[in-house]
Amino acid sequence: APTVAVIVVAAGSGTRLGHAEPKAFVLLHMRPLLDHALDSIFGMNESVQVVVVVPGDRVADAHALAARAAARNGAPASAGPGPAAASVTPDPAGTITIVAGGRTRQESVDHGLSALLPSIEVVLVHDAARALTPAALCDQVVAAVRATGHGIIPGLPVVDTIKRVAASGAILGTVDRSELSAVQTPQGFPRAMLEAARTWAAANGRFEALTDDAALVADAGHPVTVIAGHPLAFKITTPEDLERADLLLHAAAA
Ligand code: C5P
Repeated sequence: APTVAVIVVAAGSGTRLGHAEPKAFVLLHMRPLLDHALDSIFGMNESVQVVVVVPGDRVADAHALAARAAARNGAPASAGPGPAAASVTPDPAGTITIVAGGRTRQESVDHGLSALLPSIEVVLVHDAARALTPAALCDQVVAAVRATGHGIIPGLPVVDTIKRVAASGAILGTVDRSELSAVQTPQGFPRAMLEAARTWAAANGRFEALTDDAALVADAGHPVTVIAGHPLAFKITTPEDLERADLLLHAAAA
C-alpha cells in the first residue's frame, strides 16, 4: 500500500481566468488543466495515492479523466468515484480517489484528507492550477519531508523589487527582497503533523486568517522549511498565465 498521498485541489472556479468553467477543467492544448496536473503526479518515482478534489458536479467527469490519465501513464486504472467525501471508496490498490470539494480551498483540503488510506504517512497538497509542475519537484518534496520530518514547501526567490503601497499609490516602504520567497505547491507534510495542525486551527478559529497549508502547520508550532521550487510550477490564474502555459507547451513540443 502507498505511504504517500497527493491531494490535488481542483474545486475552484475559473472566475479570474475569465472562464465559466471550473479552472481545473479549462483546456490547455485540448486537455483540461487537471489532466496536465495528473500527468506530473503519475510521473513521480514514488507510487502514490492520488486524491482529486473537484466541484460536486464534476465527480463523474474527473473519474473518467483520472482513469484515462492513469492508463496513459501506465498506472493501475481502478478508481473509486464518490459524490461526496462521505461516500469515498478508496480502491484497494490505492491509486485514485475522487471527492467533491468545498466552498473554500481549506474545506476542499479537508475533504481530500478524509479520503486518505490508513497506510499514508506523508501528504502532499497540490493545486491543479499549477498544471505544468515537474514530477521531479513532487518527488523532491516527498524526499525532503522524509529526511527532515518537517513541513516542506517549494519556493522561488523574488526577483522584483517589492514595495508596500498605500491605496493612494504612495510608497510606504521597500521590502527586503533577500528575505522573500514566492511559494508554490506541492506542499508536503508528515500526515500526523498536518492533521494535528488542522485540528488546532479549527479549535482556535485560525482557518479564516491562514489560507495555505504551510501557514496552518507553522501557526500550530510545527517546523516548515522552504526548498528550491521550479519556474514551471507557476499557478495559472489569469488569461495571461494560460497563454504562457500554452507557449511553453508549444516550445516543449517543437
Ligand atoms: O483560486 P486559487 O487559484 O487560489 O485556487 C488554488 C487551488 O485551490 C486551485 O487548484 C483550486 O482549484 C483549488 N480550490 C479548491 N476548492 C475551492 C477553492 C479553490 O479546490 N473551494
